[in-house]
Amino acid sequence: MKAIVIADDKLLWQESAPPDLRAGEVRIAVHATAINRADLVQRSGGYPPPPGASPIMGLECAGVVMETGDGVSRVKPGDAVCALLSGGGYAEQVVVAAGQVLKIPQGLSLLEAAALPEVFATAYLNLYMEAGLGAGERVVLHAGASGVGTAAIQLCRELGNPCFVTLGSEQKLQACLKLGAQAGFVRHQGNFQQALQSWAPDGVDVILDPVGAEYLEANLNCLAIEGRLVLIGLMGGASAQINLGSLLMKRIRLIGSTLRARSVAAKSAVMDQLESVVWPLIEQGKIKPIIDTTFAISDADAAHRHVASNETVGKVVLEVPQ
Ligand SMILES: NC(=O)c1ccc[n+]([C@@H]2O[C@H](COP(=O)([O-])OP(=O)(O)OC[C@H]3O[C@@H](n4cnc5c(N)ncnc54)[C@H](OP(=O)(O)O)[C@@H]3O)[C@@H](O)[C@H]2O)c1
Repeated sequence: MKAIVIADDKLLWQESAPPDLRAGEVRIAVHATAINRADLVQRSGGYPPPPGASPIMGLECAGVVMETGDGVSRVKPGDAVCALLSGGGYAEQVVVAAGQVLKIPQGLSLLEAAALPEVFATAYLNLYMEAGLGAGERVVLHAGASGVGTAAIQLCRELGNPCFVTLGSEQKLQACLKLGAQAGFVRHQGNFQQALQSWAPDGVDVILDPVGAEYLEANLNCLAIEGRLVLIGLMGGASAQINLGSLLMKRIRLIGSTLRARSVAAKSAVMDQLESVVWPLIEQGKIKPIIDTTFAISDADAAHRHVASNETVGKVVLEVPQ
């Protein structure tokens, strides 16, 4: 099979050994994969794959089931599926635990379905399972126009949670307001705290934060009593001082969360939630994959540069030739 191999910091589409299929796993002929910010970090050596995962980049894909290992009943050869991967998506074939595979929602193409698994799993897991977001609770989504952010805005809109976004440009803000965010702030104009406090004078209930150190103080200041801060990334640094007083007095919970290194059982539980809660909303046309651009996988280098430019709204998809 062909796969993307990193050589001298270039991404090359070249021959690579196909993965072995074991019991409980599914082999997928990949038609499309999608880029996640983590891929850029993995490429530069900062986010190695967890033990046992493919060294090839790619945390999600959509394609057609080629074969199934012993004990798999969830899907069968010929099914159009998408999957949440621990790696290996930038390839013609991938092997993944059956619990991380879902049939694609009716009405979507394989290219569209490739943009779903990682960002909807991340948004749903962290907002509704980790933070336990309740009806009507107010949310802040930092990097609101990112893949994760655009998935999260739509979940909040459909599940009844008003949300506020921060992001990098007025154009991105307009895109997020159109998707259902109530208000937002362009991060290059200073600290978001004042704008957020006028949107939610009593504080917000949940913050989904991929930024970390740079936003920590303002995040804690803006949380309401019993607010939850879910840290999912460190784009703004890993070291900061916490005012433990505000954590204590407001009974704030600070939750660190990564998806990739979780067990198959934990990831399968998230995928089951997507199938029962999110897939019907997609099939009703209420939620959709937000795709910024599609590149041929042989242009993965250019696609990575596009993501790194911070100009994308939603996902960048890589199409695999058939
Ligand atoms: N923990 C997990 O399990 C998990 C899973 C998936 C993703 N994530 C994290 O979630 C974040 C979004 O991922 P994605 O793949 O959806 O990203 P993406 O689509 O590539 O978007 C990332 C956006 O973040 C903003 N950004 C970049 N550097 C920033 C900085 N220093 N401070 C604030 N904002 C910055 C930029 O938008 P603006 O210029 O518009 O702000 C950029 O377009 C990443 O940090 C990723 O690592 C975590």
